[in-house]
Amino acid sequence: MTVFCAVGVAIDGNNNEDKERFIKLVKKRGKVKALEEELYKQDDLDSKTDFETHFGIAHTRWATHGVPSAINSHPQRSDKRNEFVVIHNGIITNYKDLRKFLESKGYEFESETDTETIPKLIKYMYDNRESEDTSFSALVERVIQQLEGAFALVFKSIHYPGEAVATRRGSPLLIGVRSKYKLSTEQIPVLYRTCSIENVKNICNSQMKRLDSSTCLHAVGDKAVEFFFASDASAIIEHTNRVIFLEDDDIAAVTDGKLSIHRLERSASDDPSRAIQTLQMELQQIMKGNFSAFMQKEIFEQPESVVNTMRGRVNFESSTVLLGGLKDHLKEIRRCRRLIIIGCGTSYHAAVATRQVLEELTELPVMVELASDFMDRNTPVFRDDVCFFISQSGETADTLMALRYCKERRALTVGITNTVGSSISRETDCGVHINAGPEIGVASTKAYTSQFVSLVMFGLMMSEDRISLQKRRQEIISGLKSLPEMIKEVLSLDEKIHDLALELYKQRSLLVMGRGYNYATCLEGALKIKEITYMHSEGILAGELKHGPLALIDKQMPVIMVIMKDPCFTKCQNALQQITARQGRPIILCSKEDTESSKFAYKTIELPHTVDCLQGVLSVIPLQLLSFHLAVLRGYDVDFPRNLAKSVTVE
Ligand code: F6R
Repeated sequence: MTVFCAVGVAIDGNNNEDKERFIKLVKKRGKVKALEEELYKQDDLDSKTDFETHFGIAHTRWATHGVPSAINSHPQRSDKRNEFVVIHNGIITNYKDLRKFLESKGYEFESETDTETIPKLIKYMYDNRESEDTSFSALVERVIQQLEGAFALVFKSIHYPGEAVATRRGSPLLIGVRSKYKLSTEQIPVLYRTCSIENVKNICNSQMKRLDSSTCLHAVGDKAVEFFFASDASAIIEHTNRVIFLEDDDIAAVTDGKLSIHRLERSASDDPSRAIQTLQMELQQIMKGNFSAFMQKEIFEQPESVVNTMRGRVNFESSTVLLGGLKDHLKEIRRCRRLIIIGCGTSYHAAVATRQVLEELTELPVMVELASDFMDRNTPVFRDDVCFFISQSGETADTLMALRYCKERRALTVGITNTVGSSISRETDCGVHINAGPEIGVASTKAYTSQFVSLVMFGLMMSEDRISLQKRRQEIISGLKSLPEMIKEVLSLDEKIHDLALELYKQRSLLVMGRGYNYATCLEGALKIKEITYMHSEGILAGELKHGPLALIDKQMPVIMVIMKDPCFTKCQNALQQITARQGRPIILCSKEDTESSKFAYKTIELPHTVDCLQGVLSVIPLQLLSFHLAVLRGYDVDFPRNLAKSVTVE
């Protein structure tokens, strides 16, 4: 199987006073398992005594510059002695200028990565330092002043053994804190520089010397405390659920088991400290259990995840909905000019899926936008707009850029995310946490249905006092109540869907067609199929059939049609006739009560019927399952499709 990622680790070597200092660097094309094998294959690691170190940095790489290979993987290094090593998430946009500068100073580059400029730049700063006792974090501070783009970085150096420095700008970074003992503080005070850049180094030195127990975190009584740097909480949850989320331009240093945080300028939030937060995530939530892949587990979790999304928010007795994170802004939202919902990929599809019901319930114009396109168009945004940013990870760079753009134009910003403490949840004025639980599979599944339900809940909350909409609200709320049971019923079709996959898995292409409330299902189904099965798949609006896609239809082309008992039913029947007239053999996702569609179907998957605007929660699930089975049958890694990452923190 083709491998599209690369991994690496750097750990302190023998750093006793009497021995030469070094950093052990091992890198490998492939997955973490390959790195582990490589580590133990190497002679000097056979004996554990050689590397009884507690200090290392490691990375799995999703390529932005340069192919996945050991040489391009991280840690990247300054030179053959590994004087400085760095791991990086994000992208350095001015790396060409930096590389030119460093090459002019005699540095030789070994990789094709943008990241390699960073360890070389810090070595340059180190070699040209004015004072012998320049601290590690002072050097990092100088480096990041030269970087453009987005980054989360962790540095190590043989010149600063037992020490690591981390920083971020635009890419997420958190610090896990584990200690059996009482901690010296739950709030880490942030040190600020108030000087000109030229003076940074000196001030830095004196400030670092002033660090004492009141400015850094450690366990009381010199007991051990462990720190974990990570981009995402799921990477550290097996060690600790206590985390500190770093802000842009924070520089966090762990020196002799103590953590301190400083920054050059005051942060936008102006918060003078960083709190240790407790995550609600549990380890078993991110374990696969009896499932063969996280994606499969997450598909089957949907009866519970949608309940968690609604928990404490929908009161089925009184037919009321309360989203605590929005209640203080409701008046402002009701008065707005329009709602703009912005996201990427699956999150965008959740907005497409709910647009119609939101227009109906809020009686406002609703625009749905792909974040990248929204930015490309310099879309006009006004202060009386309300802009929603929908993102599972809360870190997607395109969505985050769009958020900052809308904030600059003083629109009210609302986050809909699945990740507490993520950049989008922190930078928006208010928001809704979808509570779907951690989603590990790269292909988003349960987050989609929870985003869907969250947006519907928002519409219901907005329409609470609209007399004319009460009947409709009641119908939707009853639909929400029965949703978990209906999802279970859809999941029970898994075997039938597996059989269908057996028929389809050798095909090159798969069309998914529908309209109205279920158009988003087609887009989302096709996205799932293409991203994990690598088959070509297209979500087609059935209303557009005769404007082009009909030319694709023949006996061979597999077509899935989503036809539900809703206001588009008759129009979908017309599309069905057009397909069968061209000898197409449609596989139809239809409602159990539908006797008409099945007459023309090559195969049917029958779904329970719910209220029209919620039907998309049910109709997407067979397509999630189908994509999963197709990918397994084609022999692909379902959870880690090639070329894709769970959090897309680069534009
Ligand atoms: C598809 C998928 C992606 C994400 C997209 C946005 O299965 O997972 O299309 O939906 O990258 O990610 P978030 O929702 O984290 O902003």
